[in-house]
Amino acid sequence: MLVNMKGMLDAANRDHYAIMAVNSVNMEMARAVIEAASEMRSPIILQMGRSQMAKLAHHEDILPMIRNMAERVDVPVCLNLDHGPDFQTEINAIHWGFTNLMIDASSLPFEENVRRTRIIVDMAHAKGISVEAELGHVGQAADGDGRTDDMFTNVAQAVEFVERTGVDALAVAIGTAHGKYPAGYVPKLDFDRLAELKAALRMPLVLHGGSGSGEENIRRAVAGGINKINVCTDAFHAAEVAMKAKWAEDPQTDYLNIMVTAEAAIKAFVKDYIALIGSANRYTFDFADNGSKE
Ligand code: 13P
Repeated sequence: MLVNMKGMLDAANRDHYAIMAVNSVNMEMARAVIEAASEMRSPIILQMGRSQMAKLAHHEDILPMIRNMAERVDVPVCLNLDHGPDFQTEINAIHWGFTNLMIDASSLPFEENVRRTRIIVDMAHAKGISVEAELGHVGQAADGDGRTDDMFTNVAQAVEFVERTGVDALAVAIGTAHGKYPAGYVPKLDFDRLAELKAALRMPLVLHGGSGSGEENIRRAVAGGINKINVCTDAFHAAEVAMKAKWAEDPQTDYLNIMVTAEAAIKAFVKDYIALIGSANRYTFDFADNGSKE
């Protein structure tokens, strides 16, 4: 069933687990992710960013399709706009049927981030849509971001930010970065800061740049209070590895079989990840209190 993100993340916050948010850019990925969640009896979040929608996941095709797939399973499915950069994109996203909006004004000064986030929260909540924002900044692995604490989330600022914006979930910067890290590099996460943020905020926290973090970091992040983990690069990678192996094993294979292989690989990857972050069998929560069907 299609839901917004508030109910599922409030339950995850209360019961100390995390829900996977997978950037899902075509039919095969969306179906793999939803089937994996359904088989694991887990809530799930499918998301896409503006450039992914421009390149491949065209909103007019993929959003009705995902909403339809979501309504055919009985686990909660949220459809999240990832990294909404401006008001126009956010307003479009409301019309297109997203059930959660992320507003990412994290590169802007604090006051401007507050101002923009507050406006999106007021607009989205009026439509029963939940909102995630980001404070501190999760940058790019390719730029070496996340290795020093200069962009990490400040705890006192985070408390003020949440109070003034009314946001439902907060993405925090604690050492991860988006995309592929250099071979062999494992990010060092600031778990002390995460503990301080969780103690001060007591609300759903989000980890961006989940890929390449390593199982140990992910396990500790969930234990420390992360309730949503964004994964894109690792999901693509799972498909790429399987597709290359299929081609190597059978050079005569065709498009249909390659896509079937990719879908199966993503589904297996998502099921393993769900087991890792503790959301298996957490598919019910109190909709009356927490979530709203759109
Ligand atoms: P990765 O590609 O590093 O997993 O990051 C995904 C993400 O955070 C999307 O918002």
